[in-house]
Amino acid sequence: MARKYSVLEQELKYIDTQGLLRKPKLIEGPIGPRVSIDGRETLLLCTNDYLGLANHPSVKRAAKEALEKYGAGAGASRLVSGTLAVHGELEAALARLKQTEAAIAFGSGYLANIGVITALVSERDGIYSDELNHASIVDACRLSRAEVKVYPHADTRSLEGMLAGSGVFRRRLIVTDGVFSMDGDIAPLSELARLAAEFDCHLMVDDAHATGVVGPGGKGTASHFGLEGGIDIQMGTLSKALGSYGAFVAGSRELIDFLVNRARSFIFTTALPPASAAAALEALNVIEREPERRERLWRNASFLREGLASAGFDVGLSETFVIPVIIGDARECVAMAEALLREGAFAQAIRPPSVPEGASRLRVVPTAEHEPGDMDFALDAFLRAGKRCGVI
Ligand SMILES: Cc1ncc(COP(=O)(O)O)c(C=O)c1O
Repeated sequence: MARKYSVLEQELKYIDTQGLLRKPKLIEGPIGPRVSIDGRETLLLCTNDYLGLANHPSVKRAAKEALEKYGAGAGASRLVSGTLAVHGELEAALARLKQTEAAIAFGSGYLANIGVITALVSERDGIYSDELNHASIVDACRLSRAEVKVYPHADTRSLEGMLAGSGVFRRRLIVTDGVFSMDGDIAPLSELARLAAEFDCHLMVDDAHATGVVGPGGKGTASHFGLEGGIDIQMGTLSKALGSYGAFVAGSRELIDFLVNRARSFIFTTALPPASAAAALEALNVIEREPERRERLWRNASFLREGLASAGFDVGLSETFVIPVIIGDARECVAMAEALLREGAFAQAIRPPSVPEGASRLRVVPTAEHEPGDMDFALDAFLRAGKRCGVI
């Protein structure tokens, strides 16, 4: 074998010895509360399709109609071949949801975070980032070349000390997940907003896991805290509770015009496919029409979180529908996921680098589509697998 490939093989072997090798499972058929894995019906407990909208009839219909009307792809960057009507309609609806002057769509959440952060701050600037922020924020911070100060998770007192003590920057940005993707707790946004105002910083919240599901009407973390006008930059995804693909940033007209001109991951990449935009637009309508979906999600989450905790599992800081079952060691975490799968339920083993060393976990997520019987089934499966693996 050529040396260039043997180096990769060695690296893969090393990853495997650490219990960190990843191989996506093949899901046969659509995402739903139950899926087929290796020909066996399995309870799915790890999708971000929180409201079950990826398969909602009117969402799929909207995507099909857009496919017929606009074609399969957007053709180019919007700065090259223009904005399709459906992009504009989606952005207007997102700005309404977030109660901001404007919004801009991106190809994905990863691209949105890269685009906003690298546009806003660079060499002479400072970023204050929660230690548990999503990898796309971490990568954006690195790419920006700003000085990055990582504050302990949700620790606003430490952050205040860092803000008061740090040197002179041209601009400063505080950035946080709204709902933390692997821990399921909600950022202390009121306190962050107070600090941003006091120290004249931009404040950005990544609402990938909050848009459509947190706060009144699913408007997100800002709304959950009654801070609608108080957050400069609200990023969100179309790929999780909205069941589609893509992302957006909502904020002032000035911010959005700035991003159109400066966000490289908006400028130098093909626009969101029209069918994805149309699906997300219809998902926003469904979220307004069917609030009971959000209620079912939160009810299932409370039931499962409380059941797991009282059975002796460590569910960490979770206060939402993202429920970590913290195992610690990566190999033991994989063993627990496999035991759970044998019991008929699939929750992914999340290991470093997605979570810190020694904090491997199953990321358990119920959806609005799960029936109460599914939650009983999940708890029974966890109990049996947990006992067999010595976790409880
Ligand atoms: C908090 C957070 N931000 C951003 C992203 C990236 O979003 P996308 O999957 O649309 O690239 C994710 C998704 O995994 C996420 O959890």
